Amino acid sequence: MTLPTRAVAAFALMLAGVGIALAHGGATGIVKERMDAMVEMDRAMKALVVIVRAGPPFDGGEVARLAGVLSDHSGDDLLDGFPEGTGHAPSEALPAVWSAWDGFAAQAAQLQLLADALAERAEDDFNGATAPEPYPIAGIDLVDGDLAASLPARILVAHMSETCSACHADYRAR
Ligand code: HEC
Repeated sequence: MTLPTRAVAAFALMLAGVGIALAHGGATGIVKERMDAMVEMDRAMKALVVIVRAGPPFDGGEVARLAGVLSDHSGDDLLDGFPEGTGHAPSEALPAVWSAWDGFAAQAAQLQLLADALAERAEDDFNGATAPEPYPIAGIDLVDGDLAASLPARILVAHMSETCSACHADYRAR
């Protein structure tokens, strides 16, 4: 890479960073708090994906800790972050959060159920748990507690990731 090209690339990178900062710039109070909680969940989710992709045996303590981060920020705690009247810029929350609250709450509860199922069994060796075959990750509406208790870590994590995406598709702009 020639020098000028490198400078341009560095500048573009810098701009990209500024873009991210600006997107959340000005968020205060509860909107900032819920964004921060989402970012924390994002980090925990990415770490879990790396762990389950690597396969068992897992570091049970670390899996439980990461699942705990997701559990803490989902369910009712997630809902508490979205009081009515907080959907204005710079928030990316869609009006559907409040007009279709039940669906929003169901996704928040689903994430917590999955995270708790993972945390509870994190110390186990998940090798023994077998998903029904062939197991459709996409297209399953909501997983109940019994099913969650029978799923291997890899599938629980895939479902969690699906839940993040499903909620964002319906309730977050972009
Ligand atoms: C119940 C719905 C719901 C679930 C489940 C959910 N999110 Fe979100 N998420 C939202 C909404 C709504 C916003 C927009 C919030 C705002 O801008 O006010 C958001 C925003 C975000 C953001 C952007 C935060 C920022 O700084 O602007 C990230 C990152 C994110 N979510 C990650 C995740 C991850 C990872 C998961 C799953 C582990 C997840 N979310 C689960 C609804 C959800």
